[in-house]
Amino acid sequence: MCGIVGYIGYNDSKEILLKGLEKLEYRGYDSAGIAVINNDGVQIFKEKGRIADLREAVDPKVEAQTGIGHTRWATHGVPSRTNSHPHQSASERFTLVHNGVIENYDILKREYLQNVEMKSETDTEVIVQLVELFANEGLQVEDAFRKTLTLLHGSYALALIDEQDKETIYVAKNKSPLLVGLGFGFNVVASDAMAMLQVTDKYVELMDKEMVIVKKEEVTIKNLDGEVINREPYTAELDASDIEKGTYPHYMLKEIDEQPAVMRKIIQNYQDENGELEIDSDIVTAMNDADRIYIIAAGTSYHAGLVGKQFIERMAQIPVEVHISSEFGYNMPLLSKKPLFIFISQSGETADSRQVLVQVKEMGHKSLTITNVPGSTLSREADHTMLLYAGPEIAVASTKAYTAQLAVLAILAEVTAKSRAMEVPFNLVQELGIVANAMEVLRDSKEDFEMIAHEYLSTTRNCFFIGRGIDFYVGLEGALKLKEISYIQAEGFAGGELKHGTIALIEEGTPVIALATQKFVNLSIRGNVKEVVARGANPCIISMDGLNMEDDRFVIPEVHELLTPLISVVPVQLISYYAALHRDCDVDKPRNLAKSVTVE
Ligand code: G6P
Repeated sequence: MCGIVGYIGYNDSKEILLKGLEKLEYRGYDSAGIAVINNDGVQIFKEKGRIADLREAVDPKVEAQTGIGHTRWATHGVPSRTNSHPHQSASERFTLVHNGVIENYDILKREYLQNVEMKSETDTEVIVQLVELFANEGLQVEDAFRKTLTLLHGSYALALIDEQDKETIYVAKNKSPLLVGLGFGFNVVASDAMAMLQVTDKYVELMDKEMVIVKKEEVTIKNLDGEVINREPYTAELDASDIEKGTYPHYMLKEIDEQPAVMRKIIQNYQDENGELEIDSDIVTAMNDADRIYIIAAGTSYHAGLVGKQFIERMAQIPVEVHISSEFGYNMPLLSKKPLFIFISQSGETADSRQVLVQVKEMGHKSLTITNVPGSTLSREADHTMLLYAGPEIAVASTKAYTAQLAVLAILAEVTAKSRAMEVPFNLVQELGIVANAMEVLRDSKEDFEMIAHEYLSTTRNCFFIGRGIDFYVGLEGALKLKEISYIQAEGFAGGELKHGTIALIEEGTPVIALATQKFVNLSIRGNVKEVVARGANPCIISMDGLNMEDDRFVIPEVHELLTPLISVVPVQLISYYAALHRDCDVDKPRNLAKSVTVE
């Protein structure tokens, strides 16, 4: 989390930095700041709140061709103007922005900085104070910066400027993502290519424990031993229009509506010239070599993993375990002899997942990342990658990435099953086409979901989502969506489990959204609905055509029963969206959250 940008060139940097930060706001939005340097020295503008607040605070008269910026998701220290970046050294010579967490900041403070008065509660300030300390001891700035880096434990993406040299930005990276963008007569720094697409599409990747000296006309990458590293730039294949909202009021709504197109794009990208589904043969071999698959993921991607387990076990018949990444690393289960690790991550940057990848790589195990972001850390570091082709997802609450994850997992399962000569229950290309059409029907039924949100959720404090089998997993995702953006306390429950304790929470009028898309549990989930209705609940049954009964609140079009999560999730996405809207919540940037969580 946190996003950083930097610009050095011949144009005024303020607007470029602010626009870049707006594109990075998905990484955190507690506070934001920029520092620019010109002949008058360094000027800092920072504010608690959004980039829009920062924009107001920036003096339009100040012109400067070098600058750095930051949007924050607080880890150490409350969101406040004082704790917001950029941070400065004691003499204000050095100014720094940082994304990540310095785990040993307290030790460093005690060991090196006892005589320095800290201005903020952040771990970041230690870095900038150390650079000044070592520069004061006589080191060149580059050496002072390098010496500081060698002392840091933890994650960082850093950009530093020196008041005495407006021609250089010092940059470094470890674990947190960072790119250097190349232009003619200027260069930029950004946590994500999206931020600087406004000025360039040429980027150089940075690896962990590298530092970069960025000047207007020159970029020099070095390792921490000071050796120069040569690396070719790549072209970011992002369309600037993909990251605009267009006529939509919110990115979330746009992204929900994009789901049918994403399905079609996925089919296209995974089809061979004969129209058969195809994936990299090395991935198929890795699947077939595995005696057990471990899916590792967080948040919405974890929920996709739960459904993915069903796809893989039922189609390819390989046993699958699904684990929350933040738990797995510290509490590793007994592994099978030939495991394959599948990391599911929209961003490809989630630190919790990455720490597992690092561990399992060290153990010599094979890995596959399923991600939306080519070139992301999890993609680069795993043995194999499958892309989601969902286009940039900007809203913090994940929607189209989830359905894309399901589609790609289904393709993985189907292709593997076929390679093992197993009977596949359907023609997946056709079925995904049916899914895309069904998504369009739901997209055109927004008024129904708006009404449901109004009727059931406008005043409630809590809400339950229940389902059985694969519907349970969609219920978990529904509850997460609703919590994230409307702040209603919501829980996803297996229909049969509610009565073992949680039913105590059902009161007169408590909304219970029940999903009924599975024939073999259609009657039992309806029995569970009766149990909660008997205790006063206000039930909202969303069923699938063919399984519907009187009083069901919405009937979704029929798709193959294994693929229903791709469809049944759309109503819960839309209901959550409208519930948040009715409550006047900031749909795209819910409180306390960030889209790309790069701290453990
Ligand atoms: C954050 C986001 C969630 C997301 C989770 C995992 O918490 O707010 O929406 O599901 O990270 O992210 P990933 O990029 O790994 O899928």
